[in-house]
Amino acid sequence: MLKKIISFTLITFCFSIAYSQKKKSPTAPGIDEKVEALLQKMTLDEKIGQLNQYTGDWEATGPVTNSGNKLEDVKQGKIGSMLNVKGAKHTRALQEAAMQSRLKIPLLFGLDVIHGYRVTFPIPLAEAASWDLEAIEKSARIAGTEAAASGIHWTFAPMVDIARDPRWGRVMEGAGEDTYLGSLIAKARVKGFQGKGLGNLDAVMACAKHFAAYGAAIGGRDYNSVDMGLRTLWEVYLPPFKAAVDAGAATFMNSFNDINGIPATGNSYIQRDILKGKWGFKGFVVSDWGSIGEMIQHGYVKDNYEAAEVAINAGSDMDMESRSYINNLAKLVKEGKVKEEVINDAVRRILVKKFELGLFDDPYRFSNEQREKKTLNTPEFLEAARDVARKSIVLLKNEKQVLPLSKDLKSVALIGPLVKAEKDMQGFWSIDWGKEDHLVSLYEGMQNQAGKTRLLYAKGCEISDTSKAGFAEAVSTAQQADVVVMAMGEKYDMSGEAKSRANIHLPGNQEELIKAIQATGKPVVVLLMAGRPLVFNWTADNVPAIVYTWWLGSQAGNAIADVLYGNYNPSGKLPMTFPRSEGQIPIYYNYFNTGRPAKDDNDLNYRSGYIDMQKSPRYAFGYGLSYTTFEYGNLKLSDTNISGNKPVTVSFTLKNTGNVAGEEVAQLYLQDMVARPVRPVKELKDFKKVMLKPGESTTITFTIDKEKLSFYNENLEWITQPGEFKIMIGSSSDAVKLDGSFTLVD
Ligand code: NOJ
Repeated sequence: MLKKIISFTLITFCFSIAYSQKKKSPTAPGIDEKVEALLQKMTLDEKIGQLNQYTGDWEATGPVTNSGNKLEDVKQGKIGSMLNVKGAKHTRALQEAAMQSRLKIPLLFGLDVIHGYRVTFPIPLAEAASWDLEAIEKSARIAGTEAAASGIHWTFAPMVDIARDPRWGRVMEGAGEDTYLGSLIAKARVKGFQGKGLGNLDAVMACAKHFAAYGAAIGGRDYNSVDMGLRTLWEVYLPPFKAAVDAGAATFMNSFNDINGIPATGNSYIQRDILKGKWGFKGFVVSDWGSIGEMIQHGYVKDNYEAAEVAINAGSDMDMESRSYINNLAKLVKEGKVKEEVINDAVRRILVKKFELGLFDDPYRFSNEQREKKTLNTPEFLEAARDVARKSIVLLKNEKQVLPLSKDLKSVALIGPLVKAEKDMQGFWSIDWGKEDHLVSLYEGMQNQAGKTRLLYAKGCEISDTSKAGFAEAVSTAQQADVVVMAMGEKYDMSGEAKSRANIHLPGNQEELIKAIQATGKPVVVLLMAGRPLVFNWTADNVPAIVYTWWLGSQAGNAIADVLYGNYNPSGKLPMTFPRSEGQIPIYYNYFNTGRPAKDDNDLNYRSGYIDMQKSPRYAFGYGLSYTTFEYGNLKLSDTNISGNKPVTVSFTLKNTGNVAGEEVAQLYLQDMVARPVRPVKELKDFKKVMLKPGESTTITFTIDKEKLSFYNENLEWITQPGEFKIMIGSSSDAVKLDGSFTLVD
């Protein structure tokens, strides 16, 4: 096996564009020539300057190493890019300094525009719950348009890390646990940010991150090691990155973690062989914040000198904030440890992007204060944010038709620590606009739609303390109302970078408050606003209506009110499995069956599972309800054999059997029944989101070709194996409504 992996590594290495080779021009006509001409003029120090990225002193996300005089460094051509600088005015001022450098090479301005810039969109995990690729692309498009109008050239997004562990705080930034859905979303978001292409005034460079496997940090502890077989790496974790390359992502960011003992930042297999080699990626790779220097703490290199040598040779083109390159590369070149051609390749990749952005024609083209003013925060963008926000909401439970709320209710009590929250509903990576912010809280959103209904309010408790001082007031407020809506969840900084949690239960004594309110006998709706799947078993078992709203951004309150009042029928489906307890983690729907599978949750004896806990999750991947109901029927296969390159089509009817119009996400899962190596119990292979009026039905057709049946074998070859495949169609990964099978003949 090891031999095979090594030989595969060698094969892939042959694909790699060795930096010394000349490449075919991937760029717009003339750009390669301009880059070569500029490169000829550059001193080694000027080249190294291009590989150096510093933070502005605004909004740093890590320790700012030795500030120095950055403005002076810019004037001397010692900095190629800055992050955390925003606004037409600031970026122009810094660009003016860059124009004083000998070669007048413009700076690149990068920022974490993760879920919106001025208008905050739902967190990426929430948007993934919409399963609406158009809406997701549009959200990135708007974020890109706003950022580009504010002097930004580059967003450090999308994060395309697959995440199967909700303890990891960064699950909020990604698209969840599934590779297929994650790959489509990666593509949509890259397309959204980059719009019609670099060079347009509303396009920013996308950055697929964190390359690679950062989402598999052991135990969900941020920055932790990743210990993973190469087959899992290739099959589960890499495809969204490949999708980002195929969608034209201009840049990649590597990751903090080591993969099987080799830090990603110094990992030549990952960056040179796979990304720049086999995948032919033409953009550049930026390190994560300080990750080049952090190879010292990893114990992989002894100092920044060695760190710079390892990182540049492994394909990390730009150094974010560790100062390893600026302080060591010149010496490394002189001492023959780094070939100048390696530096040239990295510089070329960066200069190409600066040319493509049009910065050499006009370094200030993105820094126009008038355009900025006109572009940001428009009613159209706010409306789009509201639309994506309501599409991201997942209805988890709705018994006794508590929802939607009637407009005829005399009074509704709004109770909980997040009723009036603004910042908390925006989420971790939202950009702080201070006083300019106008965010719609739940309270305000409800006021906008409550009509004659009287709204009562009590906070009840804080998000995470243990005082019950506010319970009595909350209970008496609930007693005066016809219905109670409770806004519970996480504070904005409880999920995000460095926000791993060992305990993912609803924080503080919020669930105690829910119990107290439920005891009043009033109909209760619990809204859960969070950046990750939480555990809330008592609520799930006892409260009649539960809505998972995540963190929805600027328009959160309006979007939630739309759903509560039935002006929008919820259609979101979970992009991550919700566990019953932390002990079940990692938990995901596409596991292997094992030799001792439990038949059901009662089958515990000598089975793969726990003797003290069900095997099933609380809520499965793909789960989500609607105010209407759907019926699946009439499954038809065009053939029961797949042979040659002829695909099989599978069709079925979907009918809205309820009283209101609604959207369903019909999901196609496949299982390869016998294979070597073994295959998961099911894998998402396609889905379709359709809107149906009451009583309306439609035929949905999925095409299954050989690509959908392919997988990596133990030699990391992408293959199919003949045999039987099971088809499962349903409304979630654990609600199969129709099944059938076909045989792959050859
Ligand atoms: C560290 C984070 O890991 C990364 O995602 C982010 O883009 C950088 N900091 C820059 O803020």
